[in-house]
Amino acid sequence: MRVGVLTGGGDCPGLNAAIRAIVRKGIDTHGHAIIGFRDGWRGTIENSFEELTIESTRGILPRGGTILGTSRTNPLRDDGAARVRETMLSLHLDGLIAIGGEDTLGAASALHGDHGIEVIGVPKTIDNDIGSTDVTFGFDTALQVATDAIDRLHTTAESHHRVMVVEVMGRHAGWIALHSGLAGGADVILVPEQPFDLDEVCRLIRRRHARGRFFSIVVVAEGALPVEGTMATIAPTADAFGHQRLGGIGQWLEGEIEHRTGFETRTVVLGHIQRGGTPTAFDRVLATRLGVAAIDSAHERRWGTMPALHGNEVELVPLAEAVSELRTVPVDELAVATPFLG
Ligand code: F6P
Repeated sequence: MRVGVLTGGGDCPGLNAAIRAIVRKGIDTHGHAIIGFRDGWRGTIENSFEELTIESTRGILPRGGTILGTSRTNPLRDDGAARVRETMLSLHLDGLIAIGGEDTLGAASALHGDHGIEVIGVPKTIDNDIGSTDVTFGFDTALQVATDAIDRLHTTAESHHRVMVVEVMGRHAGWIALHSGLAGGADVILVPEQPFDLDEVCRLIRRRHARGRFFSIVVVAEGALPVEGTMATIAPTADAFGHQRLGGIGQWLEGEIEHRTGFETRTVVLGHIQRGGTPTAFDRVLATRLGVAAIDSAHERRWGTMPALHGNEVELVPLAEAVSELRTVPVDELAVATPFLG
C-alpha cells in the first residue's frame, strides 16, 4: 500500500513520535510506502510531499514540533476536496493519515463522509479537547510546562506580595488551566466552561490577604469569559476555520484586580512556550501507540476511524463520532479545585 501522512493545526509535542511510529511500523512490518505531505492539508492541495523513510525519520522521537510542517489550511474551502483526491490519485495513494485537532480531524471526517476520501484520524492537541478519547498527546507536556511556570512565578509573587495572573492556552476547554492550577496550587482558576464573576475572584484574593497570605496566583485560560463581558481577543480576524485569535484576558484581569483590590498585580502570558520543546515520556508513548494503531488500521483499510485512548487501551472509534463534540471540562469536575481556592 501507499499511505499519505500529514500534520495539521497547531504544532504540539509528540507529532514527530507519531510520524516515526507510522513510518517504522508501516515500512518494516507492513511493507508500505509512506508519503509525508508538507504543511498539513496545504500539502495535499498543492501536491507538496516527500517520501518518508526509516532513515529520514531517525532521531525525531524526542523533538518537538513536526518535521512535516503544519498549517491551518482548510481543505473544505473552494475546490480543496477535488484537489486532495487528484493528488491522491496522482501519487497512487490508498489512503491518508491526518494527525490533528478539532479542525484537521473535522475536515478529515467531512472529506471521508462527504467526498469518499479514505482517511484515518489521529488525535493531538495541547488543549486535550477531542471527543471519544480520554486524552490527546501534547497535553501532558503543555501541562508540565504550565505547572513549572506557576512554580517559578510563586517566587516573585511571594517575595513582592503580588497577585500574579498566568494566562494559559485553551480556546474552548480549560484542561490546561484546571490541571496546572491544581498541580501548581493556584488560588483562582478560570476556565472557558464556566463564566467567572470578577467580584468572586477579588473576594478570594482579599480572603487570602485577610488570612495573612499576601500573594495570589490566578490561572486563566485564554478562552475564559467574564459573566459581564465578552471573550478577549487580540485580533478581530478569523482563521480558515473561523476561529478568532484569543488572548488578552490576563492583561484585562491584571487591571481589574489591581483596580478593585488595590493589590499590585502582574500578568504572564505563557503562549506558545506551552507547545514547544521536547515531549514528556507520556506524550511520546501515547503518540507512538496511536501512530502504530493508525498504520495498522490503514493496513486493514478501516478508513473513517480514529485510534483513541480508553483507560489503558487504544481502541478504534468512528472519526465522525469523535469530531461531533468537543471534550470540554465537565462543570462538576471543576469542584475538585474548590477547597484549594482563595
Ligand atoms: O489548538 C491549540 C492552540 O494552541 C490553542 O490553545 C490556541 O488557541 C491556538 O492553538 C493558537 O493557535 P496559533 O498558534 O495559530 O495562534
